[in-house]
Amino acid sequence: HLNPAALMRQTLLGMSRNDQLRQAIEHAPVSRDVVRRFVGGTTTQDVLDVATELADTRRMATIDYLGEDTLDPAMAERTRDAYLDVIAAAAQAGLTQDGAVEVSLKLSALGQALGRDGNAIALENARAICQAAANAGTTVTLDMEDHTTTDLTLSVLRDLRQDWPWVGAVLQSYLYRTEQDCRDLAHEGSRVRLCKGTYKEPESVAFQDKGDVDRSFVRCLKVLMEGEGYPMVASHDPRLVEIATVLADKAQRTPDSFEYQMLLGIRPDEQLRLAAAGARVRVYVPYGDEWYGYLMRRMAERPANLGFFLRGLATK
Ligand code: FDA
Repeated sequence: HLNPAALMRQTLLGMSRNDQLRQAIEHAPVSRDVVRRFVGGTTTQDVLDVATELADTRRMATIDYLGEDTLDPAMAERTRDAYLDVIAAAAQAGLTQDGAVEVSLKLSALGQALGRDGNAIALENARAICQAAANAGTTVTLDMEDHTTTDLTLSVLRDLRQDWPWVGAVLQSYLYRTEQDCRDLAHEGSRVRLCKGTYKEPESVAFQDKGDVDRSFVRCLKVLMEGEGYPMVASHDPRLVEIATVLADKAQRTPDSFEYQMLLGIRPDEQLRLAAAGARVRVYVPYGDEWYGYLMRRMAERPANLGFFLRGLATK
């Protein structure tokens, strides 16, 4: 009994996990333009060019090396090395001062799913990246994946924060547990990115209704804004962006005590408007060869983006 929008979303989420389709599309001569709207290229240099462009327009960046659910230790090491490389190159280019360019990590890409030792492997890889970020004078944020990994990710976060208290967390307002997690993490020095959440989650753990997810977002945001930490408001939703501005004001926050975050290629005009008004704005910039799953999730969220993608495919 799905409506057409829900059916489209489910189809696209299914496509995002379809390996044959992934290979076909990844190897199709997709125009760089199609991918480039949402993805900051495939190489370190590509992504640094994008970060430089953003810096020129008063926007900060958090860089994500694409890849997830690694089942191969060598791949996890390659992912770690890509991060070490991009952090060093960004520092060299003078982009990391005051955390202007930082990185976002997925623990599953660093080996979390590699059987019994997975968590330890991911932690070790994440530690190497945090040390490199510390040397470069910038920060790291741990992306949040599906609900089966929430506790593990928060425990890795606690470990990392013992050495690097600036490691950021992501919390997802679609999970029932998140309001409490916000309370636990709203302490001084705690960087928390609040987003709605992008995975398909069961009713036992997550709100299914968009309105409920939005209301939860507002409750969580209130906790974070009134708390002592550093909230990072990750949404393109005009209503939620407006509410964030009001809540920050009410909590007497200065513009440098929280930030707005959006994805590369989504509402760039709004990113520029917020930055011009003096807000801190950070753009999430994914890059690398494994852009397929990421792009499909963006399409599932907003099938209007699909036309853009398919037109690009069809003309090549
Ligand atoms: P939603 O998709 O519900 O859209 C709400 C409204 O925003 C729309 O009605 C429209 O008005 C506007 N809008 C959205 N897309 C638009 C577009 N393309 N053009 C114009 N208007 C548009 N998720 C996760 O599970 N773990 C994570 O670690 C992260 N990390 C993360 C970092 C950052 C910086 C961001 C911005 C997002 C994430 N996410 C994430 C993804 C997040 O959970 C969520 O899936 C997307 O941000 C989409 O949700 P929105 O809040 O943007 O609203």
